[in-house]
Amino acid sequence: STAGKVIKCKAAVCWGPKQPLSIEEIEVAPPKAHEVRIKIVATGVCRSDDHVLSGALDVNFPIILGHEAAGIVESVGEGVTNLKPGDKVIPLFIPQCGKCRCCKNPDSNFCVKNDLEKFNGVLQDNTTRFTCKGKTVYNFISTSTFTEYTVVDDIAVAKIHPDAPLDKVCLIGCGFSTGYGSAVKTAKVKPGSSCVVFGLGGVGLSVIIGCKVAGAAKIIAVDVNPDKFAKAKEFGATECINPKDYDRPINEVLAEMTDGGVDYAFEVIGNTGIMTSALKSSFFCGGKTVIVGLAPSNATMTFDPMLMLTGRVLTGAFFGGFKSKDDVPQTVDDYVNKKINFDGLITHELPFEQINEGFELLRNGKSIRTVLNF
Ligand code: APR
Ligand code: ZN
Ligand code: ZN
Repeated sequence: STAGKVIKCKAAVCWGPKQPLSIEEIEVAPPKAHEVRIKIVATGVCRSDDHVLSGALDVNFPIILGHEAAGIVESVGEGVTNLKPGDKVIPLFIPQCGKCRCCKNPDSNFCVKNDLEKFNGVLQDNTTRFTCKGKTVYNFISTSTFTEYTVVDDIAVAKIHPDAPLDKVCLIGCGFSTGYGSAVKTAKVKPGSSCVVFGLGGVGLSVIIGCKVAGAAKIIAVDVNPDKFAKAKEFGATECINPKDYDRPINEVLAEMTDGGVDYAFEVIGNTGIMTSALKSSFFCGGKTVIVGLAPSNATMTFDPMLMLTGRVLTGAFFGGFKSKDDVPQTVDDYVNKKINFDGLITHELPFEQINEGFELLRNGKSIRTVLNF
C-alpha cells in the first residue's frame, strides 16, 4: 500500500499565466491530520481554471489547477472518521466545516474556511502536500484535481454513492451544480415563470436544466455564439437570441418578449456589463437577477440604483447555493437514480495528458465540457 508514503505521480503544473500547462512528475506527501489523499479518476475543464491561465484571477504560482473532479480515497490522515480508502468522493471547492457562521446559516452555502476569496493556495494548516523539482506547488481553491493524486482537507470532500460513474458525476463538483443550483436553489424558480440565461457554456446550460426542472414556462437563452443554440434547445430553452442580431440593448428586446421583463435573469459569463444587462432585463417589480459568472479580479459593476427601488432583487452564489458536503452526495444520488441527467454537457473526453487540448476546445468555443480521464 502507498499509505503513509510520498507518492510520485503525474500532474499538470501551471508555472504561470499565458503558457501551456506542463505535465510533470510531482511528489504528493501523505495526508496530515484531517486530510484525505485522493486518486483522481476524472476531472472536467472549467472556465474558472482558464481564468487563472488567462491572468484574470491572481493566484500563487506554481499551482495545480482543477476543481471539478471525482476520485477514490487512497488514504486518510489522523482523525478522519467518515472516509476510508476505496470510498468514491468528490472534492469540494467550497468546504463545509459545519461550525462557522456561514455554515450554520441555512440560507448560506459559503464557509469561512474557503480559499475562493484570497486564493492563498494552501490547506487549512497553511502548507501544501505538493512539490515539483524541489519547489512547493500551491493548491487551487481547496481542491487541485489536475493531478493523479491530490490531498484535501476533510471539510473539502464529500463521500458519494458507490455506484456513481466518476467520469460523469465529476461535473457535480462544479459546472452542473453551479448552474442547476442557481436555478432551483438560489433563484428558486417558480412554475410558469419566465427566465433568461446569458451565456450558454456548461454552467449556463445547467441553469437551463434547472429552470426546466423547476417548471419555468419561458426560458430564453442568450449567447453571441449561435453554435450554442442547438444544445440550449435540447436542454429546455424555449427561445434563443444573439445580441449581435439587434441594434438596441438586449434588455429592451427581452422586455418585449416577456411583457415587460423576466421573472429570473441569470448571468453565466462573468462579464460585469452583462450583469447590468441582466438586472435591467428583470421585471421592474420583483424580478430576480442571479450572478453566476465569475468576474475578473477587481472588476466592478455599476448601475442606476433606481433599478432596485422598484423592487428588483440582485443576488448570487458560488456553486449554485449548494451546501457542498450535504448537497453533492444528494445530487449524485439523484443522478444515479436517474432523477436528473446532464450527460449531454460532456462533448469531449480526453486522456489527462491532453489537458492543453481540453483548454483549446474551451477557448475556441468548440466544447461544452471536456472530461479528462486518468
Ligand atoms: N454575451 C453573450 N454571451 C457571451 C458573451 C456576451 N457578451 N461573452 C461570452 N458569451 C458566451 C460564450 O460564447 C460562451 O458560450 O458565454 C458562454 C460562456 O461559456 P463558457 O466560457 O463555456 O463558461 P462556463 O464554463 O459555462 O462558465 C461560465 O461561470 O463558473 C463560472 O467561471 C465561470 O465565469 C464562468 C461562468
Ligand atoms: Zn464553515
Ligand atoms: Zn468550475
